[in-house]
Amino acid sequence: MEIKKGLEDVYVKETEITYIDGELGRLYYRGYSIYDLAEFSNFEETSYLILYGKLPNIFEYENFVRSLKESRSISNGLREFLKSVKKDANPMDVLRTAVSIMGLEENTHVYSISDQSIVNLISKFPTIVAYYIRLKRDLEPVEPDPELSHASNFLYMVNGSKPSEEESKAMDVAMILHMDHEMNASTFASLVVASTLSDLYSSIIAGISALKGPLHGGANYEALKMFREIGDVDNVEKYILTKLSNKQRIMGFGHRVYKTYDPRARILKTYAKLLAEKKGGEIKKLYDIAEKVEEIGIKYLGSRGIYPNVDFYSSIVFYSLGFEPEFFPTVFASARVTGWIAHILEYVKDNKIIRPKAYYKGEVGRKYIPLDSR
Ligand code: SDX
Repeated sequence: MEIKKGLEDVYVKETEITYIDGELGRLYYRGYSIYDLAEFSNFEETSYLILYGKLPNIFEYENFVRSLKESRSISNGLREFLKSVKKDANPMDVLRTAVSIMGLEENTHVYSISDQSIVNLISKFPTIVAYYIRLKRDLEPVEPDPELSHASNFLYMVNGSKPSEEESKAMDVAMILHMDHEMNASTFASLVVASTLSDLYSSIIAGISALKGPLHGGANYEALKMFREIGDVDNVEKYILTKLSNKQRIMGFGHRVYKTYDPRARILKTYAKLLAEKKGGEIKKLYDIAEKVEEIGIKYLGSRGIYPNVDFYSSIVFYSLGFEPEFFPTVFASARVTGWIAHILEYVKDNKIIRPKAYYKGEVGRKYIPLDSR
């Protein structure tokens, strides 16, 4: 009997949503290359594609965009909650709890995945995150602007000013690239909950909880902390060698499936470079350190198939767009919520409760001894 630790190489379902070619470093959403989607699509269109399996026609697209825009604002209950949260809370805890409140505000006794709950989740994640960011900065929250696209509006609510063309495009691409990744830990976590026919909000909360971890969606935050810790390009090789000799991991490197460069990291690197050159200062310095870490990391780890992953350069992109590092995982979650929902919709069509086994290796039939005789 073989234990498949971490369920490595275990298939839990068939899917038509995402295909990852880990050897060649290629990624496809519903058969479309992410290179094409990053260049030609946007968050709304790719969300529709991932959820419903096809690129929308103009009517479907406009309808979907309108439904997302109409649902962006958050309830008074959520506003009161966010105002009550301590300023040094973990933003993923804030998001997770806010989604719990959304579930409470919607009738979650009956198991059904309504189109409105799908739209609510996708449209409100950015508003929740941005609302808390503004409160944490002691600034007035910014109400959603229906004139702006999903990605542009996210940046507008965070920074209080409309983003440039480059910033909007970088945010759109970053959200597209974070939208789905087949059976990653957080998608699997959300699927386990959905497979018991629990409600959609509970499943998404499981996804947020799993994504928070530094081995998964929290690695972007750790990567930026690392670049800051290194402090100078000249310190990179010594820092990396010290980490590796202490058997510590280089955050933003390595992947269960990719044994070559993560294609998302390739695309994100181009935007990180563009934004770093535009913004200069600390961001340019951090980008230069990141590039050196990439070079040195590949020098020592590349032969073992350990390369930069999505979290490596996304850290520079998110930082350049105005997010404090502790909020990076919430930006990841604001995109991945679409993927979680899509896999849930696909799985529950032919549902089977997820219940693996644990191989028992303890004793059996031990005799109970009363407490006063032990
Ligand atoms: C994401 O699954 C997904 O698709 C996830 C994701 C998505 O879109 O959903 O792509 C997003 O989570 C990206 C990964 C972000 N995490 C990090 O950057 C954290 C650092 N990376 C590692 O912890 C690790 O690479 C994982 C968690 C990503 C993958 O872990 P695996 O496949 O279980 O591999 P492993 O931990 O068993 O490591 C195998 C070997 C070990 O060495 P040995 O014990 O065999 O000697 O490779 C080494 C590891 O020490 N290793 C690393 C390393 N990653 C693996 N060594 C140094 N630095 C690293 N980053």
